[in-house]
Formats: sequence, structure tokens, C-alpha cells
Amino acid sequence: MEQEKIFERLLQLLSRHYSHRTAGTFVDYLDPGELRRQLDLDHAGPGGDWEQVFDWVEKYLAHAVKTDHPGYLNRMWAGANLPSVIGEMVAAATNTSACTFETAPVSTLMEKYLLRTMLELVGFANGSGQMTTGSSNANMIAMMAARNSVDPAVKQSGLFGRPELFAFVNADAHYSMDRAANILGLGADHLIKIPVDEHGRMDVAQLEQRLATVVAAGGSPFFVAATAGTTVRGSYDPLPPLLALRERYNFWLHVDGAWGGAVIFSDRLRGQYLPDLAQADSFTLDFHKMLGTALMCNVLLFNQRPDILRQVCSAGDESYIFRDGEDGEIRDLGTQSLQCGRRVDSLKWFLDWKFYGQAGLAARVEHYLELCEYAESQVNQRDELEMVVPRESFNICFRFRTPPSIPPAEFNRELRERMHRTGRSLVGTGVVNGELVLRLLITNVNVETPEIDTFFQAVIDTGRELLAERSSRNQASPTRQA
Ligand SMILES: Cc1ncc(COP(=O)(O)O)c(C=O)c1O
Repeated sequence: MEQEKIFERLLQLLSRHYSHRTAGTFVDYLDPGELRRQLDLDHAGPGGDWEQVFDWVEKYLAHAVKTDHPGYLNRMWAGANLPSVIGEMVAAATNTSACTFETAPVSTLMEKYLLRTMLELVGFANGSGQMTTGSSNANMIAMMAARNSVDPAVKQSGLFGRPELFAFVNADAHYSMDRAANILGLGADHLIKIPVDEHGRMDVAQLEQRLATVVAAGGSPFFVAATAGTTVRGSYDPLPPLLALRERYNFWLHVDGAWGGAVIFSDRLRGQYLPDLAQADSFTLDFHKMLGTALMCNVLLFNQRPDILRQVCSAGDESYIFRDGEDGEIRDLGTQSLQCGRRVDSLKWFLDWKFYGQAGLAARVEHYLELCEYAESQVNQRDELEMVVPRESFNICFRFRTPPSIPPAEFNRELRERMHRTGRSLVGTGVVNGELVLRLLITNVNVETPEIDTFFQAVIDTGRELLAERSSRNQASPTRQA
């Protein structure tokens, strides 16, 4: 097949898929065994067969989860902004690594432009940053920067025989913090999880006690991570008291805004949720979550530390690859990255930024919050549903009410599973105060109030259906427990 025809055919398939992205059900669900059979993964053709390639593509698309669909309410991302999808397609077709200017000239300049733009927006003066592979890695790099700043000898000598380092996070912080503590040689015992208050925020009095205990025992409290929008509850750790504690204990204050950091685009919401962000030491934000850029797209920013990334990340003999510009400026962004090959993520961000602008992104985030308020009010108005905890920001933690004889966690898990398999909707779960919750996240531009109503009606219909089935099973076999 001629190359041009290949692209024509691909674009036809994609265009057909895209125009049906909100139609029908969000998934054509098959159990893994049946899907494996239909995919015919062991098929051994002669190779070099374009028809076969397109056959796999069609199968992939037929069973792809339609993340743009309003029934898809499961994760912190849904669908993707079209400008960023175009950026992804161009990046894939031109296939290069964003580690050197030579191989990625436009991408390098766009990434530098992004960093300048975002540093200015956040208010980090004389700062620096990089696009990373997501907030998990950004959290790890921030922790590493803090570790190497408190004890620069660690880079050469490792952690052996040095004062013990302790990091502190909200007990509900994302699991990437645990992984970072593992990777960086701290170990889980040196990641102290601070219990939360009734709003799911780090309890600052308890943090203060733990800091004092660590110092009294000769340890070094080097890192505190505030979460701006916890994964399950959407709580924002309060920055002013953490900044006050930083004055006394001199730790590095990182803000994990993977999810809730998106409020920075709206002056109003930033004032409400992250008023003191400009005083933090580092901040991470995922564009691929609430802001809708295609996965993955992240930025990690440092305050007042123009050279920190190179100091921390650069290691080994890079002479074969990286060069500085004649003005001494870093030319090749790979020198301050933990990876060698780097995907081009700046193009899709740039296209989104120019297409929507700060005002467009602010309007989107503000509108999501209004929809969350609406969703919470709907839960409170419907007898069958209940909020497990009140809404803190963007996360709706609710469940279907069950009669006393039925354990709510088991029932709501079953309800979620039934909704998934029948293609009605996909909603997330989480645990709050030991209780299973259905975690509704509205981060889909195709969701408005009618789609929220449809979703809750589907939850209620599914719950009623399950209750009726249980009741008829019990009538058929009266000795069974409800
Ligand atoms: C609060 C928080 N931090 C970090 C992450 C990790 O982000 P990523 O998926 O970009 O690695 C998540 C993901 O859900 C999160 O909720």
C-alpha cells in the first residue's frame, strides 16, 4: 500500500471513531478471556501485511474505552482536547526525542516557553522546571531535589552513614510518595504520614509534633509535601501554617497539584484554594488531568532555584550528547532530566495553550466546580444516595444507601461492576475513613447537568435492580442471609 494511502485510511478510521466518541455506550465490554480470543493475539501472518495492521487497529478501536463519553466518569482525565490530540499525532509521526535541541528544536523552544509561562503564572521568581512523565515522577524529582539540597554530599556518597532523613505527607497523599521514598533510599519508615482533619487536610498540629519528635531524635525533616487536591477526597492541605512551620524547621515545601493544581488558571479559585502557592519550593501540575491535554503532560516547577535540576539530575558522562548554548544557557533539556529519550510533550501543551488560553482553561475549571456543586446537591436530594463525606472541592464521594442487612462496601462495589459491564457508566472508587465510596470526578467537557442526572439515575436504577435480585434470591432460599 502506498504511504499516502496508509495515512488516508488511518485518518478515515480515526475520524469515524472520533465522531462516535460520545455515542452508544462508553465501552463494548468483553470479559478478558473473550476479548483475548477475539483479538487473536497469536495470529501468525506472513508479516509486512498492511491489511493485517489495519485489522488490529480496527479491533483496538472497537474495544477502546471511549474516554470522551459522558458515561466515563472514572478517572482524573477524560477524552482529550483536540489541539493536543493533533500535537500527539504530529509528535508520533515525526518521532524524535526532546532531549537535545538538535533532534527537537521546536519542541525545546516550546518547552522553554512553557516553563517561562508557567513560572510566571505560579509566581516563582528566578525559577526553573521541566516537563516530566507525570506527577508521580515529578513528586519523586522534587523529593530528590530536596534530599540533595539538604545534604549535597548524598549525590556522591549516597545515604550511608549520614543523618536520617524524614519526609512528611498527608496520610491521603498519592502513592507516588511511597514509591519515591522507596526509589530514593529513604524507605517507608522515613515517609511519615500525617493524619487528616475532618476535611481530609493534613493535621498541622500533628505534623508539628512529628517534626519535633524527629528533630529531638537527631533526624532531619527535609521534605513536606502538601497535596493540592487529594486523590480520593479532593482536599487541599493548608499552605499558610505549613509555610510557618518551614520557617522553624527549614524543610523543603513541595505542592503536589497533580489534580487540584489546575485552580491556578482562575484567579478566583486560586485565591480560594492555593493563595500562598508562590512561596512554596516546588509545585507539580498535570495538564493531562482536569485541563484535558492528551496523556501524558506535566510540569514540575522550582522556586528561586535556576540550576537545581542540572545539579540534581545530571550525572555520568554526557559529553557525547549534550551541549550548552554559546551564551551558556542550557540548550539540551536532557541534561536536567532523569531520562535520556524524552517524548515530545511540549507541542500538545503549546497547541492547547494557544487555542484555549488562560481564560479558557480558567472557565473550564470554574465550570467543573459548578457541576460538582450541582452533583453534590443531586446526591443530597435523592433518597437512595448519600454523600459519605461532604465535598471539599472537585471530588464527589458518595454511595448508594443500603438497608442495614447489606454491607455498603460490598453492595456499592457490585453496583459499580454492574454499571461497568452493562456499559451504563464507569465511576471510580476509593476509601474514606475506612468506608468505600464511589468517587465521581467531572473532568469531561461532554458532561453537563443532564449527563449528571443520567448518571445518578443509572446508579439508582442499578442499585434498585440489585436490591430486587437479592430480595428474589432470598425469597427463593429463605435460609440465606440477605
Ligand atoms: C494527588 C496526586 N498526585 C500525583 C498523582 C500521579 O499523577 P500521574 O498519574 O501524572 O503520575 C495523582 C494521580 O492520580 C494524584 O491524584
